[in-house]
Amino acid sequence: MTQPQPVTPGTAAAHSDPYTLYAELVADRPFGYDADSGLWVAAGAAAVSEVLTHPACLVRPSNEPVPRGVLDTPAGDVFGELVRMIDGAPQARRKHVLHKALNTVTEKRVIALAAEQASEATDWRDLQFGVPARVMAAVLGLGGDVPAQAARLIGEFVRCVPASATAEDQAAAAAAAARLLELLGPYLRARGGGLIGELVRLAARDGWRETAPLLANVIGLLSQTYDATAGLVGNTLLALARHGRPDDLAAFVDEVLRHDAPIQNTRRFVADATALVGHHVPTGSTILLLLAAANRDPLANPDPHTFRPGRADPQVFTFGQGAHRCPGQAMATAITIGVAATVTKTPSHEGYLPSPNARIPVLKGQFR
Ligand code: HEM
Repeated sequence: MTQPQPVTPGTAAAHSDPYTLYAELVADRPFGYDADSGLWVAAGAAAVSEVLTHPACLVRPSNEPVPRGVLDTPAGDVFGELVRMIDGAPQARRKHVLHKALNTVTEKRVIALAAEQASEATDWRDLQFGVPARVMAAVLGLGGDVPAQAARLIGEFVRCVPASATAEDQAAAAAAAARLLELLGPYLRARGGGLIGELVRLAARDGWRETAPLLANVIGLLSQTYDATAGLVGNTLLALARHGRPDDLAAFVDEVLRHDAPIQNTRRFVADATALVGHHVPTGSTILLLLAAANRDPLANPDPHTFRPGRADPQVFTFGQGAHRCPGQAMATAITIGVAATVTKTPSHEGYLPSPNARIPVLKGQFR
């Protein structure tokens, strides 16, 4: 018989119960060095906030801005231009354009697109991964069978993102990135409608004329949607099975985001030795930020382990904070509302997909 794997801060995201460990860390070591993994671990809400907003904590190690395995490949070229993967003024400028463009998309339209796509989904996996990717592709203005192709290729591209990516993952990601660049390039040049057209217009107005960063960040929007929204859809359907259908689905999804975060952690890299949360953190340190633990810190959210939609003033860390805060919260929530409103069957689940940071349940049971 196989023994259950021990839960550690770095592997908790896909474990059946990460929350007992998180509660212990929040109580006993809200910020500290974990000798087993060689990582600094931030679990308490105040510690997570301090690290996310500290200028010495960067999104990539300064000696490896792009993972070595994809350097000088199309995947590396895309990776190195993503707002998610760069810091400083270029990040702020690109992010501003992304934000403005995303703000032109209405919640009502996204809910309707998600409901339409959900009614045509083929199985649970397609519902979790395919539907959000096809909705995002449709919002971007991609037509014909391009949304379906893009959805498939994004699944390959994201394989290069985790630190655990193998040479095979990186080769698959490089091939997918090359194909995505070919597929999406014409849309940018055509300056058509949809979110891509909006991005091109806003970027030109901002004096930002190179196409490569824009194209990379369109791929970034698709890839950021992928795992995270699959997790939110899955965790919401499981919460509905557990707690029943609510009157206010939006408040319900917001509480799923806090209580069972689809993205459980992120990382920061310390470029220059600095004092953080009262500790001396040396140059070259990696910090694991347990966003899902901070959501359940009683100092941030009273009675944090209780699932209670409509909480007063919830403190939610699931979308990060500071310069890199996720611009896709409204999009992800609207997609999930559209899907959850359409699905009538109740899934069960069999564990979680292996992932260092996403919590994506493997849904089972009759689909239609
Ligand atoms: C439930 C779904 C989602 C969750 C939980 C989530 C979570 C996050 C988190 C935690 C970050 C910040 C990472 C960090 O600071 O280290 C982030 C960044 C980002 N997300 Fe999301 N995300 C979700 C969906 C989306 C969607 C649908 C989009 C696209 C519209 C999106 C676009 C982005 C982008 C572009 C960034 C990079 C922002 C930056 O670095 O400045 N996300 N997301």
